[in-house]
Amino acid sequence: MCGIVGYFGEKSAVPILVEGLRKLEYRGYDSSGIAVMEEGGIRITKSVGKLVNLEEKLSNRTYNAKIGIGHTRWATHGRPSDVNAHPHMDCHGDFAVVHNGIIENYLELREWLTAEGHLFRSETDTEVLAHLVEHFYKGDLQDAVKKMLAKVEGSYAVVVLSYKNPDIMVAARKDSPLIVGIGDGEYFVASDIPAVLKYTRKTYIMEDGEMVTVSAKGLKFCDFTTGECIEKSVFEVTWDAVAAEKGGYEHFMLKEIFEQPKALRDTLAGRLNHDHVVLQEVDLTPKEVALFNKVAIVACGTAYHAGLIGKGLIEHWAKIPVEVDIASEFRYRAPLIDDKTLVVVISQSGETADTLAALRESKKKGARVIAITNVVGSSVAREAHDVIHTWAGPEIAVASTKAYTTQIEGMILLALYLTQAKGTMPKEWITEIISELGKIPDKAEIILKEGAERIKTLARYFEEVSSAFFIGRGLDWAVAQEGSLKLKEISYIHAEAYASGELKHGTLALITEDTPIIALATQRDLYEKTVSNVIEVKARDAKVIGFTFEGNTDLYKSVNEIFYIPETVNELAPILTVIPLQLLSYYVSVARGNDVDKPRNLAKSVTVE
Ligand code: AGP
Repeated sequence: MCGIVGYFGEKSAVPILVEGLRKLEYRGYDSSGIAVMEEGGIRITKSVGKLVNLEEKLSNRTYNAKIGIGHTRWATHGRPSDVNAHPHMDCHGDFAVVHNGIIENYLELREWLTAEGHLFRSETDTEVLAHLVEHFYKGDLQDAVKKMLAKVEGSYAVVVLSYKNPDIMVAARKDSPLIVGIGDGEYFVASDIPAVLKYTRKTYIMEDGEMVTVSAKGLKFCDFTTGECIEKSVFEVTWDAVAAEKGGYEHFMLKEIFEQPKALRDTLAGRLNHDHVVLQEVDLTPKEVALFNKVAIVACGTAYHAGLIGKGLIEHWAKIPVEVDIASEFRYRAPLIDDKTLVVVISQSGETADTLAALRESKKKGARVIAITNVVGSSVAREAHDVIHTWAGPEIAVASTKAYTTQIEGMILLALYLTQAKGTMPKEWITEIISELGKIPDKAEIILKEGAERIKTLARYFEEVSSAFFIGRGLDWAVAQEGSLKLKEISYIHAEAYASGELKHGTLALITEDTPIIALATQRDLYEKTVSNVIEVKARDAKVIGFTFEGNTDLYKSVNEIFYIPETVNELAPILTVIPLQLLSYYVSVARGNDVDKPRNLAKSVTVE
């Protein structure tokens, strides 16, 4: 998730582009750049690091360009650097491109264009777009852009400048957001509304498959597949600047919860073939995988909870024993790690001190280390032997949500990768799981679209309480631990997660009518057992809210409230089950008037030991 802007008008473009990028920094902030149309050609200025670094470079001279594009980056392909920052150009500097999204087939396009004689400067997927425009350009920029778009697979919002057509700007979108702002004799294009609000509230929201040509004559919209022209209606923005950064949501946490379907789709993009998974950044041969006699998963907080899911999957599918450790314990307990151990470190930020120390300790002991992280170029990503990046985009809210569900996807992809390398499960089974996995983002969308209001009503069970319990068995117990952390860290209710079979060994003593119970029952082979545990707590007058698949009537009869999760296989259920729990924690916290995005006593990334 990056931020892109474009300006076409009579004012000096540079300050408008920089101001727009500042408003979009919440979308990505590891590097930035602009390209402006000048007499002698397109001038590009870009810099790694925060926007101030770019401003520094721009302050060395004056600009009078009136047309330009800009970008603030959240790296996906190619770590943050001056060269990998956008905009990117073709071989001769005639075309400049900024892009937000992922070009899934960029490697094969790059090979083809290199064979055609194109010279690439960066490691990015985006640079292929500039060279494709150069390849197809025969005098008509719109036509060249359409041909470029017909070649690429993936998600994109893209803006193209051409020195050969200095009086127009072309932009298009598919699966990444893009808006056009209408000013007085000037136009803006941007990934999101905050970038244009200072100048106009009149916008056009671009839909998938649409392209716009901006010129002094105005705006021309068309369908870039059929070429047909499109009439669009103006969307008048009523939000203030702060609300706009949150996309109209009240808090970043709610926005990030609702971004999960896209984050889940992006994290699977280019990694699922019908009967096997592809992990470009993991380079293990089946022979090397066969040598591992143990997997050690190490992380902190929410990331640790994703690791608990990974343990169940890797042991069940790939038949390799798995230990899961909290990093701050792992690094001081002299773990039995050696060159036959595969260590998996999980970290959204990639900078958590304990996790980083555990990574270094493992490497010292000769282990192979794979990182699952959300930040390209982070310490964990740089120091691990292999990386599985989650494409959740920046996570602003302290309470982690979309990073967790994409980390579970990372664990599923790794478990399938090890399974197919070891041949421990039949190909038909792998094909079935991959097809189910591909449906998960849509099912997450259903929960958000159809279930959010229902969850909001359930927050009433937590208004006056000071403690609550989450119970479940197997993978549900692992999800229960994440559910209780979410409730704890933003509502300040003392919530505990328990393997429901363990309650009778002591904790039942704490169960009263004042301790609401969240009961998770998505593991079909453990239904009956879980229902009997629910009956145990009901017998102590507890109020129970059940989460399960449609058709589990036994649980329905035993609880006060039930929430149905769209059906999927046991092992993939955790990604879906946690979403209503995230929503519940959110609505309970809002009802208590807490600062949901910045809960007390907590920080987003814990880089201290
Ligand atoms: C989760 O909501 C918290 N923000 C916290 O537990 C977090 O998961 C933990 O600090 C690990 O962070 P990381 O994934 O960036 O390493």
